[in-house]
Amino acid sequence: MHLLYIEASPRGPRSVSSAVTTAFLQAYRQACPELTVDTLNVWEENLPDFDQEAIGAKYKGISKEPMNPAEAAVWEKIRELAARIRRADRIVLGVPMWNFAYPYKLKQLIDLVCQRNMLFTYDGTEYGPLLKTPRAFVVYARGGTYAEDSPTPASRFDHQKGYIDFWLKFIGVQEVQRLVVEGTTWPEKEKREESIARGLEEARKLAADF
Ligand SMILES: Cc1cc2nc3c(=O)[nH]c(=O)nc-3n(C[C@H](O)[C@H](O)[C@H](O)COP(=O)(O)O)c2cc1C
Repeated sequence: MHLLYIEASPRGPRSVSSAVTTAFLQAYRQACPELTVDTLNVWEENLPDFDQEAIGAKYKGISKEPMNPAEAAVWEKIRELAARIRRADRIVLGVPMWNFAYPYKLKQLIDLVCQRNMLFTYDGTEYGPLLKTPRAFVVYARGGTYAEDSPTPASRFDHQKGYIDFWLKFIGVQEVQRLVVEGTTWPEKEKREESIARGLEEARKLAADF
């Protein structure tokens, strides 16, 4: 079993999404001892910018024109990153909430790898997925809380979960399991700790059947 762990927090040992995904991975390793894990930290990976070279490479690939050396180099890195996603039997993601959405480095990874004929197909009319990954597990960490009867109801303020869930399904992940850990930063200390402890416990439980 080969698992890709995409870590989207830059906070290392202080990160709640990383702590909860790590608890999940430790428990999953017990359930699945032959597990191999490829960790892709979007902050440490030196992701290339999706700049003129990357866009040039993308369109030259479609029109089958020769790429210049800079375009070929960035395209090779894109192919390597996409191959890491395709290779995974399971995907685990740790996602912090930033400005009611997710960190730009995670979107940078998605913009790089989400290429036609790498992760999806398009025949001029319809999109199709290229992955056959049975399951992904996503931890969504949030400093605040988003109950519907609060001043920040999820129905208006949550722009974190929808796109990431959509994207995983779009590329072919069959089942997306998620765990939302709210109130990691702003509520009083006791409530924060309680919420994180609940997240860790729930993650360990969910790992048994992944
Ligand atoms: C740049 C930035 C923006 C943030 N924006 C939000 C936000 O819009 N809503 C929220 O609830 N928390 C927000 N937070 C708090 C984080 O969601 C919270 O600290 C969470 O635990 C981050 O995940 P991590 O601990 O894995 O890094 C923000 C934090 C940072 C650094």
